[in-house]
Amino acid sequence: MKKEPRAMKILAISGSLRAASSNTALLCAAAALAPEGVEITLYGGLGDLPHFNPDLDDPGDLRPGIAPPAVLDLRARIQAADGLLISSPEYAHGVPGSLKNALDWLVSGSEIVGKPVALLNASPRATIAQASLAETLTTMSTRLIAEASIALPLLGRRLDAVGIAADPDLAGPLQAAVETFARAVGL
Ligand SMILES: Cc1cc2nc3c(=O)[nH]c(=O)nc-3n(C[C@H](O)[C@H](O)[C@H](O)COP(=O)(O)O)c2cc1C
Repeated sequence: MKKEPRAMKILAISGSLRAASSNTALLCAAAALAPEGVEITLYGGLGDLPHFNPDLDDPGDLRPGIAPPAVLDLRARIQAADGLLISSPEYAHGVPGSLKNALDWLVSGSEIVGKPVALLNASPRATIAQASLAETLTTMSTRLIAEASIALPLLGRRLDAVGIAADPDLAGPLQAAVETFARAVGL
């Protein structure tokens, strides 16, 4: 019997907690433009993660550490994903604390190691956070897919995912980036 190919699972993580976030809208537009067989799901737990504290994983007194449920959920989602799509704002020339916090929870585990990652960016001027994010993800042994990592000028345009997907100047490069990423992830 011929085995049906399974869908490629991509987890999308926005570094912004704003309801009207341009980075979240960009990721939702990427999901809408994804080719058949590629499922992009938005991670919604960033704001629920506790502050990173290594003691919660390993209390250091021979008791097994049990990470908080939100952390276990994040790790399971990363493990189950074939690749990650991240889009983040820059705050004071840095990566938003909530996104860095999530990455810190993943440093000691194996879930993210070797995982293909594409970095999207809703603001082309936000280069410092983008470079910092790339440095962190490289240090964490992810596989950064540079040719699928693009910046699109959404800052101040108040576009939602539907508006982005309907604008050929935005949807064209975004769709191409998602397709490039899917090819790099393979399966
Ligand atoms: C507190 C704060 C600090 C910011 N710092 C920077 C910065 O250093 N560099 C930059 O390019 N934009 C900066 N911005 C602008 C945000 O990066 C921009 O509003 C971003 O696109 C918002 O993303 P979102 O729509 O996904 O929330 C800052 C915004 C805020 C609120």
